[in-house]
Amino acid sequence: MEHRLTLLRAEVDKLLFECSRSEIRHFFHHLYGVSKFCALLAIKRGVDAELAAAAGLLHDIYQITHKSAENHAEFGAPVAEKMLRAVGGYTDEEIAIITTAIARHSNKNVVHEPLDEVLKDADVLDHNLNSNDIFNTNRQTERYVKTLIELGCKAGINI
Ligand SMILES: [Fe+2]
Ligand SMILES: [Fe+2]
Repeated sequence: MEHRLTLLRAEVDKLLFECSRSEIRHFFHHLYGVSKFCALLAIKRGVDAELAAAAGLLHDIYQITHKSAENHAEFGAPVAEKMLRAVGGYTDEEIAIITTAIARHSNKNVVHEPLDEVLKDADVLDHNLNSNDIFNTNRQTERYVKTLIELGCKAGINI
């Protein structure tokens, strides 16, 4: 039996491969990028890295399934829940943790639970380190610099 995260990735990949070429490029990069940053920050902060990786992988899923960014965090939570239940192996509590983080991830000016914050910071890291988004006006610079400093990247203070 394959690991549940591997099964979840396969489900996400199926959806991604139905997208246009530019969407495929963007979302593979971003979802897997955020998922990996989630794992890194979760390990650093003593949060469940596997659940964080799953949250990162699914956080923008609504944008893929519904082709809309509007309220995608909130609307994405039930989409993610459906996928987690279809994959199986996740308890109700784990599903609640993952989907809560997804629902809250656009609310970056508020501090929520540790796993929620891991997802928000991972999202900001990926946006800032992706050259396509480097001139994005919504870079969440304060959160980005704070995370860089936490990771020991002192040069980041001067961005
Ligand atoms: Fe998002
Ligand atoms: Fe995102």
